[in-house]
Amino acid sequence: MATLEIKDLHVTVEADNSTKEILKGVDLTVKQGETHAIMGPNGSGKSTLAYSIAGHPKYTITQGTVTLDGEDVLEMSVDERARAGMFLAMQYPVEVPGVSVSNFLRTSATAIRGEAPKLRTWVKEVKTAMEQLQMDPAFAERNVNEGFSGGEKKRHEILQMELLKPKIAILDETDSGLDVDALRQVSEGVNRVRETGEVGTLLITHYTRILRYIKPDFVHVFSQGRIVESGGPELADKLEAEGYEAYTKGGASA
Ligand SMILES: Nc1ncnc2c1ncn2[C@@H]1O[C@H](COP(=O)(O)OP(=O)(O)O)[C@@H](O)[C@H]1O
Ligand SMILES: [Mg+2]
Repeated sequence: MATLEIKDLHVTVEADNSTKEILKGVDLTVKQGETHAIMGPNGSGKSTLAYSIAGHPKYTITQGTVTLDGEDVLEMSVDERARAGMFLAMQYPVEVPGVSVSNFLRTSATAIRGEAPKLRTWVKEVKTAMEQLQMDPAFAERNVNEGFSGGEKKRHEILQMELLKPKIAILDETDSGLDVDALRQVSEGVNRVRETGEVGTLLITHYTRILRYIKPDFVHVFSQGRIVESGGPELADKLEAEGYEAYTKGGASA
């Protein structure tokens, strides 16, 4: 079983001609088959954690390690991370002009599987996955994220996750901006992948509402650049009732 291990991760970003430390020592282990929720107030550094693991050039790792089965993830190119079985869905997905969803998915699947998927089974796979997510077949011919609504972007991410079958998936605010129906469909998609037992999921969220549909095995509270408390699903109930105030007292959380 694949294991993603984050140890003492410190990350800085350049802002306004100064260097700001955003992550201040994150420790977290996610194993294939497990679902972890990272919850925390806005500005606490949750997306920075996702970007850092994804290899976004804006974020400088100043200390600590990220490994997948002992392999140094931070040394890998973005492609190598995907081939190693990591899937990262960002809070603000980028547009890929001139590349259709259908081409994008097939190219990604080819890169990750090491060979092009057989056309006939592939077309069926995509069709089934899109139907399950209540996506219009015409969607496959649109350019990636170009003019996509919030809900379409998130559905597209889950479509990728279902087809690419990662070992470790990091989903940043997959629930934000979704209406109740879209939230349920997207959650069902995550649960379908999860039920295979072959993915370790790191679900990053500000709100507790997605956790009504996806039951995490572990919940971590994130505040001011680090995990300040970890527990089981009951911790999410506590956060829903009490909010983050107990964790942000005296801090400068936006
Ligand atoms: N690229 C960036 N440039 C400047 N500041 C950033 C950048 N990315 C993150 N930050 C700052 O780091 C802090 C954490 O942001 P972020 O990781 O987006 O938090 P969250 O996802 O928990 O809301 C915020 O104060 C934010 O302004
Ligand atoms: Mg964020």
